[in-house]
Amino acid sequence: MKPVIIQPPQVDWFTGAFAHGATLRKSTRIADLAGIFADTAAWHRTDPDFAVYDVEMLESPTGEGELYTGVTHLQPGKIGDEFFMTRGHFHARREQGEVYYGLRGTGLLLLQPEHGRAYLQTVTAGSVHIIPGFTAHRLINTGSEVLSALAVWPTIAGHDYTALASGFSVRVTEANRQILVREVQNG
Ligand SMILES: [Fe+2]
Repeated sequence: MKPVIIQPPQVDWFTGAFAHGATLRKSTRIADLAGIFADTAAWHRTDPDFAVYDVEMLESPTGEGELYTGVTHLQPGKIGDEFFMTRGHFHARREQGEVYYGLRGTGLLLLQPEHGRAYLQTVTAGSVHIIPGFTAHRLINTGSEVLSALAVWPTIAGHDYTALASGFSVRVTEANRQILVREVQNG
């Protein structure tokens, strides 16, 4: 019998758009990000329906050994002087890692180990980020264009947002047109 040749899904490396595959899409709006930004008054003044980021994922089988593939599109902008960012998370299965690939825009990937100091990596088109297990991760858009990053992670990893109730220990703001990265006590 002749082997079957299947057209796989495709991703546009410049925009992160998927083609030839079934996808799921989720938007995260300003209203969904209560308590994430330091300047609560500025957050209240911002349109609650504005979509800060969208995640588009390929539909995948779930279960041990399966992988999800998704692209995050994070808008440029700020709440007060703090750059737009994703909520960020630990994996529910803490030991599970993930890989991010920068596609477009400029930003930072904030990595916060469960035990240890937070650190950042620059995200640009072509950057590769190996996120180890036991490490929370968040994207921050420090540029003026959409920041898009492709991610691949185990379907069993899951998300745990509650463990970060006190927030990440780094905030990234703009001051005098400079990007300011500072450590904070309680997120
Ligand atoms: Fe993740």
